[in-house]
Amino acid sequence: MTSRVALVTGGIGGIGTAICRQLARSGHKVATNYRDEAKAKAWQAAQKADGFDFAIVHGDVSDTAGAEAMVKAAEAQLGGIEILINNAGITRDTTFHKMSALQWQDVINTNLNSCFNVTRPVIEGMRERKWGRIVQISSINGQKGQYGQANYAASKAGMHGFTISLAQENAKFGITVNTVSPGYVLTEMVRAVPEDVRAKIAAQIPVGRLGDPDEIAYAVGFLIDERAAWITGANLSINGGHYMGW
Ligand code: CAA
Repeated sequence: MTSRVALVTGGIGGIGTAICRQLARSGHKVATNYRDEAKAKAWQAAQKADGFDFAIVHGDVSDTAGAEAMVKAAEAQLGGIEILINNAGITRDTTFHKMSALQWQDVINTNLNSCFNVTRPVIEGMRERKWGRIVQISSINGQKGQYGQANYAASKAGMHGFTISLAQENAKFGITVNTVSPGYVLTEMVRAVPEDVRAKIAAQIPVGRLGDPDEIAYAVGFLIDERAAWITGANLSINGGHYMGW
């Protein structure tokens, strides 16, 4: 197995941490970004105590120049990025008629414009080396929409549009580009949904429970494997059967 260099954005969050650990278990060197240094250092130390050695670099993915500097800092520590997981994301849930411009822009900038900001400085190196794996972590709500999430659903649907274009442009360069669309996974983001609303949503999941972050990370590990070279432009739904569109 070849050890690769991976950058997971938002690696400190629930799904992000599970992805970092999955990639490390597969033998890859992993970096993630942070905005809050104290929080990131505490996370890094906790991961180290569990046997995981992750590089951390400062950078806000919603900022074009900041993201470029972040990629350079990660590459200075670990080498050229060969695996990129665009995972960083936020919610600002509210019905559209109450939504402010800032709630719209924050979500689009962090979830979707980040894909440009982080992938743009990484793609040329991947093309030169003729190998790469890029995975967008989208959402079930980019596929089906969600009451209270016009901003989030638009950003997440946009991520897959990005995936399928990038997949076409880079297929000849040994680069695969795919999307993973998680359903409701037990993370801080989902815990922030009011309990009564969350209970109603959970009741709609055929498997009968919320997802575990490791169940998302497992799929990311599958897509970045050397043997997944013929999977590109796909959108893998992992949602306990909550949405089965195809
Ligand atoms: N479908 C139809 N009607 C709905 C509805 C739904 N899904 N949800 C709420 N409503 C209705 C309510 O019944 C209520 O109707 P009445 O006024 O007639 O009683 C009305 O909409 C207002 O609802 P709320 O009282 O809930 O309004 P609010 O302003 O307090 O909250 C909300 C609105 C912010 C959207 C809140 O309902 C909410 O947080 N919903 C959950 C949104 C969600 O699923 N977010 C996912 C976050 S996790 C994530 O994003 C990860 C991922 O990728 C899956």
